[in-house]
Amino acid sequence: MKLDNQKISAIRGMPDLLPENALYLEELENIIQEWLHSYGYCNLRVPILERTQLFARCIGENTDIVEKEMYSFKDTLNNDLLTVRPEITAGIIRASIEHNLLYDRPRRVYSIGPVFRHERPQAGRYRQFHQVDVEALGFKGPDIDAEFIIMLDRLWKKLNLNNIRLEINSLGKPNERIIYREALIQYFENYKNVFNQAEQRRLYSNPLRILDSKNPTLRDIINKAPSLFNFLGKESREHFEGLCHYLDNIGIRYNLNPYLVRGLDYYSMTVFEWITDNLGAQGTICGGGRYNNLIESLGGKLTPAAGFAIGLDRLLNLWRKYRCLEKLKECEIYLMYQGLGTKKMAFLIGEMLRDANFSVIVHSGDSELRKQFKLANISGAWAGVIIGSNEITEQKVSVKLLRENIQNRPQQIQISLDKLIDFLKSESTYNEISSK
Ligand code: HAM
Repeated sequence: MKLDNQKISAIRGMPDLLPENALYLEELENIIQEWLHSYGYCNLRVPILERTQLFARCIGENTDIVEKEMYSFKDTLNNDLLTVRPEITAGIIRASIEHNLLYDRPRRVYSIGPVFRHERPQAGRYRQFHQVDVEALGFKGPDIDAEFIIMLDRLWKKLNLNNIRLEINSLGKPNERIIYREALIQYFENYKNVFNQAEQRRLYSNPLRILDSKNPTLRDIINKAPSLFNFLGKESREHFEGLCHYLDNIGIRYNLNPYLVRGLDYYSMTVFEWITDNLGAQGTICGGGRYNNLIESLGGKLTPAAGFAIGLDRLLNLWRKYRCLEKLKECEIYLMYQGLGTKKMAFLIGEMLRDANFSVIVHSGDSELRKQFKLANISGAWAGVIIGSNEITEQKVSVKLLRENIQNRPQQIQISLDKLIDFLKSESTYNEISSK
């Protein structure tokens, strides 16, 4: 059997983003970057591959991500154990320690890019997905926790998204959690017989994770479990109350959820998630919190910090339900030609129009004019420029306006080459005004 010409398909859970969809993503990313800059966040880019040890230490050995979801491998060329990043925070913290980024002041940074987790794929849950990761490094007070929530609230409004609820909790400091952990184990041990295998294992390795179990038989048991709020010390309590105070003051509604624990172990004090009911089971579009001990545990100085990540694919799915973009526009002007010597001329005119800041597709191939017009219309261009051999000698071209609703406008005119740019500019202004 001949194998080499068989089709090769994408990896399960790693979807392609085709141009129509990528167009929406591009627009969404632009809005997000503008929003981040409006709060003073600066872009920082870290590699997709890092040492496995970084994620194991950062996210925690007993988390789902590190136990079973990382794409890890041995780089046999130099025997390094490497992992394709399952989140971006770890890389940012490593980089900020390595480059002493916080030596003179705290920093607000963000990074956007793909992350990889070997989860069971389903709608809204992928193995390659994209995060907008935002970190505020070196800030102690609850004002930064509040800033995150205020800025996210603004983003949802900017995107016209309603019905996204906010859940917040405090996980306290590590020593408070140790005492709580013991109380939780003691309580859950009474119900061990109804636990499934994974929960039995979690009971001693990471009992807090049982609190956000989706197992319906545990609902009542979890509801009566001891609450972490009662184990918080003065500082944790004041921090959390400070956050609630800021949110109340600015009028942002939230649910206090004492069972919100998050799937990564580095958090201390504030944690939060934004959830929508409009995306089915995978409704969490953003999650984050404070991680005051992480920088120190990765070899840096003890530095308070906090952050969050938006699941860009989920946000895109949600936004597309409400947002109807115009059809894909590949260019503004489509250049067509027919006759001897016209193709060479088309290249020259194409460059001339790009010099004037138009986006241009020069038709490629020997198709007849009818076919070229068809492609021009599909491209979304608002004008077609047609070059014919007679016109070349006269230094003229024809321009056909392709947009709809052009009452009282000339549909096709001949125009001399030296007036072409001015004509297109005036038409493009008209085009902008009339499309508003
Ligand atoms: P996370 O909650 O693991 O947090 O992920 C953040 C967001 O990524 C989720 O709320 C969700 O929208 C999206 N997401 C997670 N898994 C998938 C998946 N399999 N498919 C599609 N989207 C997914 C973090 O990663 C932390 N690093 C956030 C953070 C930054 N905390 C502090 N700083």
